[in-house]
Amino acid sequence: MKMKAGRTAIMLLAMLCAGPAVAAQCELEIESNDAMQFNKTSMAVPASCKQFTVKLKHVGKLAKAMMGHNWVLSKTSDMQAVVADGISAGLDKDYVKPGDARVIAHTKVIGGGESDSVTFATSKLKADEAYTFFCSFPGHAAIMKGMLTLAK
Ligand code: CO
Repeated sequence: MKMKAGRTAIMLLAMLCAGPAVAAQCELEIESNDAMQFNKTSMAVPASCKQFTVKLKHVGKLAKAMMGHNWVLSKTSDMQAVVADGISAGLDKDYVKPGDARVIAHTKVIGGGESDSVTFATSKLKADEAYTFFCSFPGHAAIMKGMLTLAK
C-alpha cells in the first residue's frame, strides 16, 4: 500500500512537472452555489496566455431554471446592457443575446451539479480596460460579479 501511494505521488509530481506548464496558468475554475454566489470576486488573466479557459462549476443542488448560473465576460461599461438584453433573450439562449458583440466570452447556464467551460483569445482584452465577469441570470448580476484583469 505504501509503495503504491508513493508511486502515485511520484506519478502526480511527474505529471505536474512534465505537463504543459502554460495550461495550468491559462485556466481558472470558478464555483457558483445555491446561495447565488461565485467563490471569486476577481480573476487575473496572464498576458502570456494566448487562450484562456474558465471552468464554471455549480456546487449547489437547485435546477438551472431556479438558481441557474453562467459566466459572462464583458467590458464593465457594457455589463448593464448585456444583462438587460440577456434577460430578454431568455433561459433557452442562456440569458445572452445571440450574437452580442459586447460579450467577450460566456458559458451556458448550468444548474446544481453541472459544469461548463469557455475558452477565449486573450487578444480580445486590453490592459487598460476594465472588465467584469458576471452571471446574467435575472437578478443575479448585482451580487454575482467580479473584476477580470489582464495581468502582466
Ligand atoms: Co447566477
